[in-house]
Amino acid sequence: MSKSPSQLNLAPATRAAQALHAMDSRTGAVVPGIELASTFARDEDYELRDGYVYGRNDNPTTRQAEAVIASLDGSAASLLFGSGMSGFVALFETLDSGDHVVLPQIMYHGGLEWVRRLEAKRGLQVTLFDASDPDGLQNAMRANTKLVWIESPTNPSWDVIDVAATAEIAHTHGALLAVDCTVSPPVTMDTLALGADIAFQSATKYLNGHSDITGGVISFAAEGPLLDEVILMRTLQGSLMKAFDAWLLIRGMRTLYLRFERASQSALAIASHFENHADVEAVLYPGLATHPGHDIAARQMKHGFGGMLSVLMKGGEAAARDVARYTQVFFPATSLGGVESLIEHRKTVEGPQSLVAPNLLRLSVGIEDVRDLIADLEQAIERAG
Ligand SMILES: Cc1ncc(COP(=O)(O)O)c(C=O)c1O
Repeated sequence: MSKSPSQLNLAPATRAAQALHAMDSRTGAVVPGIELASTFARDEDYELRDGYVYGRNDNPTTRQAEAVIASLDGSAASLLFGSGMSGFVALFETLDSGDHVVLPQIMYHGGLEWVRRLEAKRGLQVTLFDASDPDGLQNAMRANTKLVWIESPTNPSWDVIDVAATAEIAHTHGALLAVDCTVSPPVTMDTLALGADIAFQSATKYLNGHSDITGGVISFAAEGPLLDEVILMRTLQGSLMKAFDAWLLIRGMRTLYLRFERASQSALAIASHFENHADVEAVLYPGLATHPGHDIAARQMKHGFGGMLSVLMKGGEAAARDVARYTQVFFPATSLGGVESLIEHRKTVEGPQSLVAPNLLRLSVGIEDVRDLIADLEQAIERAG
């Protein structure tokens, strides 16, 4: 008898490409449909038919996308949200006033802004640590630390944080570790296997990869009260990812492994090309052997360093802004992880409180021909001259 797909021990890329071998059992369609219903009828005994009640709680298409991500992340459960930020908010809503959280000084600015609001308005205790200081995290820990939140590589300086070592420190202090692995998705980093309790991603980025939805996912290493509470927050806040977006996400994830591999190759080629360029002060990319976090990155990012890098221009802020203005192939837009390459002057996007260097340009490398991307940057640098 032939084995079912779940018994075949298939590689993650196969599971993603086939959306867990999804098929409409009635028609045989190899692409499943979208379930748009916002409410679900009970059976003749007034019981739920398949656990579905109402569209704000749950949706079959969203659940299908969650199953794919749970399989790639190796999680006990993965929850999808309408954006990365709404997932972040739901998780941080589970904390009480007086709880202590530890986060890196440089991280996704929207998350930091929300944490600062909770600190000011709800009495959350917050310590930010310097991710480049080997003792930074250890010194930030306290007896009441509930959660350590890290990002690796950190956006947009691409410092690499050792996830396994961080998990050990967090757990020694009785805290949970959550990792924002938006730029190091399960293609390359097994965040939960490295010891994290929670793997978070903005699904807007690599998971979907086509810049046509926003989404967020939280994957939990274990079931338990925290998972239940985050589900409750998502239901009460109405932040579940909607069915149509979940369907697009399932489609996007079919090519996740191909896209990530191509973006990683091209980003390394671009980083190597511009590393010693006369107009460039430095290139920040964990894939370069000269990057201070390269060895840790090589250990924990097993299949590519991703498509994100930053370039520091010798001509300062003016030169950086000019380069972003003059590119013709790169789009001067925010976000990352899509098939099209983007460039942005990150300090402008983050605002005056930003700690990002004013001469920094953040590149999100897509899947175009890398020769076009290098030529585009060369002509923009020359024009900015
Ligand atoms: C690393 C990282 N985390 C979280 C987010 C927030 O995700 P979203 O924009 O989907 O709300 C972003 C968005 O840019 C991000 O880059």
